[in-house]
Amino acid sequence: MAARASSILRRSLLYVPASSQKMLTKSLGLTTDNVTYDLEDSVTPSQKGNARNQLKQHLSGLKLRPSTISELAVRINAVSTPFALDDLSTLASADRVDAVVVPKVNSAADLMFVTDVLRHVAPARHEDGATDPIKIIALIESARAVMDLSSICRASPFLSGLIFAAEDFALDLSITRTPSLTEFLYARSAIVTAARSYELPSAIDLVCTSYRGDDGLQTLEEECRGGKAMGFNGKQCIHPGQLETVQRLFAPDIKDVEWAVRITIADEKAAAAGRGAWTLDGKMIDAPVVGKAHAIAAKAEQCGVDIQDLRAKWKDQEPE
Ligand code: COA
Ligand code: MG
Repeated sequence: MAARASSILRRSLLYVPASSQKMLTKSLGLTTDNVTYDLEDSVTPSQKGNARNQLKQHLSGLKLRPSTISELAVRINAVSTPFALDDLSTLASADRVDAVVVPKVNSAADLMFVTDVLRHVAPARHEDGATDPIKIIALIESARAVMDLSSICRASPFLSGLIFAAEDFALDLSITRTPSLTEFLYARSAIVTAARSYELPSAIDLVCTSYRGDDGLQTLEEECRGGKAMGFNGKQCIHPGQLETVQRLFAPDIKDVEWAVRITIADEKAAAAGRGAWTLDGKMIDAPVVGKAHAIAAKAEQCGVDIQDLRAKWKDQEPE
């Protein structure tokens, strides 16, 4: 299996219906880690062909990805539909497509199919190893998929993330979404655990369907905090108004970053003195804590925090 890049940051994944020329154009001026052009459920069956052609034109008109967007993806239709093959063969050959989001993945076979088609339609990107392959992000939205997570995670060398989709999952289980989200606890926890265990860079949480007004933003903030606490590192968005909150809440907290920088500086001094366990602010620090501090600092750097500046500020930090 190819090495999986761990550097992909997908805090916010914004769906943009490919049937809307206005939203396609609007998407290019937004700031978000990922834009996912949607051919699936935001496009009616009669519009699938038009949306696909419109998206192809949109992508072929793009010489460069806007600098405010790290990744451009396409959500194809489910592998079980007659549209998936056309979606993949029309769009996966577009140079600007960085990733394919595959909905309703139910088993490893679904991802094997997508992998084979990608190799066939874009061989240069999937065979020589010299160029970036088109990555796959799998939507987990059924009971069967949750039970089959380990084989799904092993199905493709291009798999680089899992997404939890609450609405289809609730439909599959005949359950109703509640504000507490406790009904999804098992599925969400299984997804973040599987992503971590197979070293997939992204575990992306459910859509917050409220997007208007202060109440909408408050619900979004609560969901972000809850998802982050469970181990998700990003969240699906449906509206540009959700992006800033999601980007901010899934970035490391600046207090945590300062703590991490202090730990790494003090640890260098402790290690030089031969001390593996030491104390900071009255708390014991040892290898796993130091590892966590390095991870927080690395992610903060990816999110644009000036770590060197913080290191200069805390250069005199000593282990206690
Ligand atoms: N991507 C890009 N632009 C978007 C957008 C999106 N997902 N959602 C809204 N916009 C644009 C609107 O076109 C509008 O542009 P304008 O200022 O140039 O007029 C602006 O953002 C404000 O939009 P607003 O009027 O508040 O929302 P709306 O009523 O136009 O759209 C939704 C509301 C929910 C229909 C729309 O956000 C949407 O279609 N979201 C994606 C849905 C989707 O993909 N679902 C499937 C995945 S779960
Ligand atoms: Mg769905």
